Amino acid sequence: MPGTRTITVKILRQNPMLNEEPHYVRYEVPFDTDRKTSVMNVLEYVSDNLDPSLAYYVSCHVGLCGGCLMKINGQLSLACREEVGGDLVIEPSPRGRVVRDLLVVPETRRSPVVNTPVVGRPGGGRQGGA
Ligand code: FES
Repeated sequence: MPGTRTITVKILRQNPMLNEEPHYVRYEVPFDTDRKTSVMNVLEYVSDNLDPSLAYYVSCHVGLCGGCLMKINGQLSLACREEVGGDLVIEPSPRGRVVRDLLVVPETRRSPVVNTPVVGRPGGGRQGGA
C-alpha cells in the first residue's frame, strides 16, 4: 500500500503489583508515512488493536499536562508531541514510580494517578484525568 510501512515498537512492560520483572514486548505497527503520527498514536494503535492491557497515561493530547512523559528511543519526550519517524523503543519515565508499563506516578505528586478517572477500556488501556 502506498505510503504505508510497518515499524517495530519495543515497549518496556512491567507490573510491580504482581512482582513482574520489566521486560520488552515487541509489536509490529502499521505506519502511514503520508501523515503525521505521534508516539501517542502508536500507543493507541497497540492498545486498540494488539494489546488492550497496555497501561499509559493520556490527558490533554497537546503537550500541556506533561502526563505522557516517557523515554522514546532513549530521550525523555512527550508521547503526544513526538513524531514517529521509524522503529521505536519506549520506556517509562525515570522521573517517578512505575505503576504499570508506561504509567508513572511522579515522586512529587500527592495523589496517585491510579485514582484518576479511567478514560480507556476497563481492565487496561489509558488512564487520564487529574
Ligand atoms: S497527554 Fe498531555 S502532554 Fe501529552
